Order: sequence, then structure tokens, then C-alpha cells
Amino acid sequence: MKKFIYKHGGNIFDYSKRLNVLPEEIIDSSASLVPFSTPKFLLKALKKELKDKNFRYYPEKNFQELRKTIGDFHGIDPENIMPGNGASELITWIGYEASQSGINCLTPPCFSDYERSLNCWNANYIFDELPKNWSSKNPQTFPLLPNADVLWITNPHNPTGQLWSQDSLKRLLLTYKLIICDEAFLSITPEGEKESLISLVKDFDNLIVIRSLTKLFSIAGLRLGYIISNPKLINKLILKRDPWPLNAFAIQAGITLLGNKKEYTVWTKKIHKWVNTEKSWMSSKISTINQLLVLDSSTNFFLVKSKQSMIPNIKYLANKGILIRGCSSFRSLSDKWVRISIQKHSQNKKIVSAIQNSFK
Ligand SMILES: Cc1ncc(COP(=O)(O)O)c(C=O)c1O
Repeated sequence: MKKFIYKHGGNIFDYSKRLNVLPEEIIDSSASLVPFSTPKFLLKALKKELKDKNFRYYPEKNFQELRKTIGDFHGIDPENIMPGNGASELITWIGYEASQSGINCLTPPCFSDYERSLNCWNANYIFDELPKNWSSKNPQTFPLLPNADVLWITNPHNPTGQLWSQDSLKRLLLTYKLIICDEAFLSITPEGEKESLISLVKDFDNLIVIRSLTKLFSIAGLRLGYIISNPKLINKLILKRDPWPLNAFAIQAGITLLGNKKEYTVWTKKIHKWVNTEKSWMSSKISTINQLLVLDSSTNFFLVKSKQSMIPNIKYLANKGILIRGCSSFRSLSDKWVRISIQKHSQNKKIVSAIQNSFK
């Protein structure tokens, strides 16, 4: 079996040092973040935070204001919410609960952090691979019914970009002891929110939904995510973790982004339009390259399969300051696969042209 390799995209600072260029000169298509400048309303709030110097004090106990803002945004009680230092920190704590709940199942190819977390707690886990061909229609039915107690789902799935239907996931809640549904990319995905499981948390105690603000607002460096689950589980995890896992700026960012529904809606509409337009432009261009097959995706990244190893192409692009995500570290994929996330149109043109040249 493939060894566990812990690898992420988004190594922009490493490459800027290696190539001796500024980070903003790198086109990073290896991490799937929106490529636009930080929204003005967020910058304003962060500047105010700096001016007011509230960061001199410990953050509010239990993040009451942030939890209330998130609760109001989703129409759920603050008791159901635990904010965290990015979804990744929360995945670590969920792994603790999952390790106590029986046999876990991961569905490769999938985000490597789940396995990292399960290893932290010596959890029992198995794999059930997702089929490598899928419908171009989204949402689609979740295709697996693994023999396990705990099922980890990503919606939309990373790295395939498949969007699972809420109906098909709801059925799984009747079968498994615990369902963990990572919705880190759902808000960025056009028509994605309709498939969210958040509204089911009040009816199902065996559900944990993971959300992240990293991708939609490109705030990977601020670190901000949250989970939504039953209050008993939330309180159990709160008692285990650090007393102040979020810093003052991340808290302010969360209150600002989710507390301004009008600004949030304007931003999200712009992002969905960009995803639809650029994804179809880019995939149609890359599809014209003989060696490559572009796979359908619902969101801002997609998989590409080559007839041969993509390692030379990845290196060629990296030397030109363009990063794409090689997939050899994903279980069930190989060096013939890459994941590409869409950027601004001018950058997408450069990526496409560099990929074309890398085959010459
Ligand atoms: C599916 C998935 N979940 C969670 C995360 C982590 O998000 P965060 O930046 O909030 O820790 C990522 C990051 O790439 C991801 O791909």
C-alpha cells in the first residue's frame, strides 16, 4: 500500500525564494484559493483591529460573538458551533472523536489531513476508493457504502471536484455512527450551498460539518474555519483544546465576513460567475492538448490526467513561476495526474500556454 505522504499545494513562499521573485509574481494554481484582492470591507475591519489594539487582551472566552455571528449566518444556535484556527485544526480534534467511534473510512483520492489526524490519535481506518470516472452532472449521488462506523466525506470532493447531493448524503446519516462532512469548498462552488448538510445538524447527532473561510476569501494566512455539530460534542472538544486557538485578527475577520450578509452575497456572486466562466474556458483549452484528459468538476479546481508522467511538465511550469498540484501523493492517483485551480483570466492564459509549451 502507498505510504502516507503529507503534502499540500500552496508553497508560494518556498518557490519565491527558490526563483528569487516576489510571492505575487508566482501564479499559484496548486492551492485552490480565489485569486482576487482581499475584499475592502475585510481590510477595513482588520485595520481597525490594528488601530484599536484589542489584540493586547486575551480573546473573548469561548468566542461568543464569533459563534453568534456564525450561528445567525447559518440560522443555527451558537452552541452548535466551534470556530478554529483553520479547518485543519478542527480536523485534528474531529480525529479524536472519530478515533473513539470505531472504524473510520477514507475515500481516496482525498485530502491528506484526514489521515494525518487519524494517525495522531492511533485511530482504526480503512480506504474505499472513489471510482475514477464520474458524471459531468452535479450534484451527483455519493457512490460508496463502505463497511465502517465513521465516514469522512468532502463536499465538493477534493481533488475530483464532484459535488455530492444532499439527498444521497442524508441517507448515509441513517447508516453510520458518525458522518464527517468537510464543506471547505462548498461556498465557492456555484449551486453548492443547496447541498450543505448544516441544516441537518439539529436532527442528526451523528453529524459534524466542517467549514472554512480560507478559500472563498483567500485568507489562508489568517487561519479561520468552524465546525457545526451537536452541543455535547462541541463542548467535549472545547474542553480538550488550547484555551485561545484563534487570534484577534481571525476572530474579527470571521465577525466581519459572516456578519455582513449583503457584502458576502455580492462577493459570492462574483466568485461563482468567475468559477463558471474560467473553468469552462480553461478546461476547453487544456482539452485540446492531445496527451491530456480534463475531468469534470463543480468547483474552482479540476483534475487532469496525462498519458505519461506529469513530473517534467510540473517542473517546467515551476521554473516559470507557475505552480500546479502534482497528485502522486494522493492515494489512488499517480504522477500522471495533476490538479489545476483556476486563476484570473490573464493568469489562466499563461498557465494554458505554459502547459502547451511543456509538451513541445
Ligand atoms: C478539503 C479541505 N478541507 C480543509 C482544508 C483546510 O482548510 P483551512 O485552510 O481552513 O485549514 C483544505 C485545504 O486545502 C481542504 O482542501
